[in-house]
Amino acid sequence: MLVKQSGASVPAVLDVNRLPKFVDRLTIPPLARSSGMKQSPLSSGIPAPLYRISMRAIERRIHRSLPPTRMWGFGATSPGATIEARRDRPIFVEWVNELPGEHFLPIDHSIHGAGRGVPEVRAVIHLHGGRVPSESDGYPDNWYTPGKSALSYYPNRQEAATLWYHDHAMAITRLNMFAGLLGLYILRDETEDALSLPKGQYEIPLILFDRSFRKDGQLYYPVSGDPAKPWVPEFFGDAVLANGTLFPFFDTEPRKYRFRVLNASNSRFLYLSLSNGQAFWQIGSDQGLLGEPVELKILTLAPGERADLIIDFKAQAGQSVILRSDTYAILQFHVSDTPSADASALPARLRDVRRTVEREAVRTRLLTLEGGGDPDDPTTRTQPMLLNGAYWHDPVTENPTLDTVEIWSFVNVTEDAHPIHLHLVRFQILDRRPFDVFTYLNERELRYTADAIAPDANEAGWKDTVRADPGMVTRIIIRFEGFAGRYVWHCHVLEHEDYEMMRPYDVLASTDRP
Ligand code: C2O
Ligand code: CU
Ligand code: CU
Repeated sequence: MLVKQSGASVPAVLDVNRLPKFVDRLTIPPLARSSGMKQSPLSSGIPAPLYRISMRAIERRIHRSLPPTRMWGFGATSPGATIEARRDRPIFVEWVNELPGEHFLPIDHSIHGAGRGVPEVRAVIHLHGGRVPSESDGYPDNWYTPGKSALSYYPNRQEAATLWYHDHAMAITRLNMFAGLLGLYILRDETEDALSLPKGQYEIPLILFDRSFRKDGQLYYPVSGDPAKPWVPEFFGDAVLANGTLFPFFDTEPRKYRFRVLNASNSRFLYLSLSNGQAFWQIGSDQGLLGEPVELKILTLAPGERADLIIDFKAQAGQSVILRSDTYAILQFHVSDTPSADASALPARLRDVRRTVEREAVRTRLLTLEGGGDPDDPTTRTQPMLLNGAYWHDPVTENPTLDTVEIWSFVNVTEDAHPIHLHLVRFQILDRRPFDVFTYLNERELRYTADAIAPDANEAGWKDTVRADPGMVTRIIIRFEGFAGRYVWHCHVLEHEDYEMMRPYDVLASTDRP
């Protein structure tokens, strides 16, 4: 198959399934190390450890049969080094842009925010799931060019969770993240320490994303047929990588492991299972531990979502087990047959997750997920999907007051599931309820067609990203805690996010009124 990019013929796309599988070892991103202490007005002058992390062009081998792949990473790696932080112990990160002067992926200059006058290479890093002051949150318009940097202050005043950091630059996030600008941020606390979950070499980050490659091993991101509008409405790669390696293997002992799983794909939902049909336990979601472990055989993970899993390989001594998503093989576990002492626990109770009750809400907002064109129809193909009918640059319409509770109801009239993410906050899912889309589109009247469905057990904890299914009203309940200021909410399908499915929102200090 010949594909066209920027008008020129490029080598055909690599058939990843012709590569030998499970011949490369899973790599674990290194731990980030602080370079000293810093104080700044951001921390009211209180000193905190400083990490200095540079975005750079790197080359990395994703498979032993391929030449190194050019990508963008942090320091020398992509995914970037894992930042480990503790609750209530703030840190600073200086995110340094040392990227080259040109982008290597197809920018769509017709998209708002990526016009010809805007520098091609720009980045701004956001801590996804972090309760972070607005000025440190990585606002999409606050990007900066090579040679510049931004200092972020992360107070870590929140419960333990698997957070992650990634680029958020206006209108090119899908390309910058596809290039590799993402990494994990693990926040720990005493509640979790007390549980004796598997740790150290038995606690493994698993950052999953799909990619396609050219025959020469370079990243391949598709373009539309229109050279003036190369944006594509979604990206689905040919293979799902684990920690940036194609079809790795991982040597395990016959015992329990804890996996911090992140779906960092642009668009792909993952449906994770083990090849032997074995069950596993989910102990945490986006914003930390669940109330109790949930036994699963298949885990659905939307882009942006995280799952904290326990897999017990005890009964698999001497065997191999493949982690897969649908029919995509991702990673093979080689379980040794040497017995292993396992002192770790899988507690029946993990923590108290108190439900936020609906009557605490001071306001309900009905927000549509709508628009989008027909991918096969060139005249409508490039219509954006919108949040409540508004574009990014329209005036702010969501402006909750600090320390109040609201219910946001996402009315999804599109044919896609959209993972909706709010910065700053954690929330709970109330329910999802099917409605008559046709009636809604024609009369703007919500006519429910069935009863509301409670969230699945593994979605019943604290979340920051929620799957809004097509034809459903998905309701979440949110307490706006932490900081007043300007934040964003958006779809975490990066192609949607870059093209208008993102909105600013304001958290108002309780004294200012809308
Ligand atoms: Cu994971 Cu607004 O981001
Ligand atoms: Cu976020
Ligand atoms: Cu979307």
